[in-house]
Amino acid sequence: MDIVLSGIRSTGKLHLGNYFGALRNFVRMQHENKCFFFIADYHSLTTHPTPEDLHGSVKQVLAEYLACGLDPEVATLYIQSDVPQIPELYLLLNMNAYKGELERCTSFKEKVRKQPDNINAGLLTYPTLMAADILIHKATKVPVGKDQEQHLEMTRTFANRFNRMYKVDYFPEPVAFNFGEDLVKIPGLDGSGKMGKSEGNAIYLSDDPETIRKKVMKAVTDAGPTQPNQPKPEAIQNLFTIMKAVSSPDTLQYFEDKYNACEIRYGDMKKQLAEDIITFTTPIRERIEAILADNDYLRKVALMGAEKARESASKTIRDVRHIIGFREF
Ligand code: TYM
Repeated sequence: MDIVLSGIRSTGKLHLGNYFGALRNFVRMQHENKCFFFIADYHSLTTHPTPEDLHGSVKQVLAEYLACGLDPEVATLYIQSDVPQIPELYLLLNMNAYKGELERCTSFKEKVRKQPDNINAGLLTYPTLMAADILIHKATKVPVGKDQEQHLEMTRTFANRFNRMYKVDYFPEPVAFNFGEDLVKIPGLDGSGKMGKSEGNAIYLSDDPETIRKKVMKAVTDAGPTQPNQPKPEAIQNLFTIMKAVSSPDTLQYFEDKYNACEIRYGDMKKQLAEDIITFTTPIRERIEAILADNDYLRKVALMGAEKARESASKTIRDVRHIIGFREF
């Protein structure tokens, strides 16, 4: 049985990218593995630092985990800040993480561009906190979307460095996991780039049908292909990528054929896509609403998960303190 771990930041509602890049695989993996899925609320402070940001979002993500089918009796579901062993390991890993390698990290460089007035140390050391999240349970498989690949590479570097430095074979070198397939990147509806919470281009699992229709109908398209079997421009490819995720293979093939024959009407394709997204999200949205209304249940799940996560994490911290050579008398 493999140890599986992944997390999502509490920076707002979850979108189709979070679902198809990560959450879908959490649900698929929970019965065959020892799974830890958490809400990365410390990480969210690097970009969303206020109490108001935290209050609603942590609860929202937990409700969305449950609404998508995670079972708290099977997987350990917890909130990062409920497990103090994680920041302890983060501190220890930071002692062997170098400024140069952290500064070269693509996500750091992106954040420097996006929030030049708040280049905090948490942003710089984001990858060591993420490594601590993973290594605290000695996880080997980490289901994530494409944008997290480099963070996993850095986790392996930190794990390997620890092992060499202390001449032990203690931490595994975890991999980004998607059942042997390429990691997923769900595009936004604005023609380029990935779907993101802060990009204004996302469809949320909790969006109502009217909102979904409006967003999809506004998606960027062009005048259509002029020659049969023409390669698709990025904005069009994006629509097909989202359709592949939510629609049936027959529907996808129908529009592929129409595109290749230069007969596609993007209005029709978008209408179909919107309805397929609505069919997919409606039961999830209804469950999110019901679970969010049940505060006692959410609290119970969080407390139960915290206890199980702390038990596993404290074993690792005990070992690590011993390996590093902290007080033993
Ligand atoms: P976050 O909160 O940005 O995203 C959560 C998960 O959703 C995936 N994702 C996507 N996948 C495909 N297409 C998209 N457009 C898309 N947008 C988001 C992300 O790849 C991710 O899997 N650093 C992490 C949180 C984290 C974590 C960890 C993950 C903290 N510690 C330890 C795994 C292990 C993050 O920012 O995720």
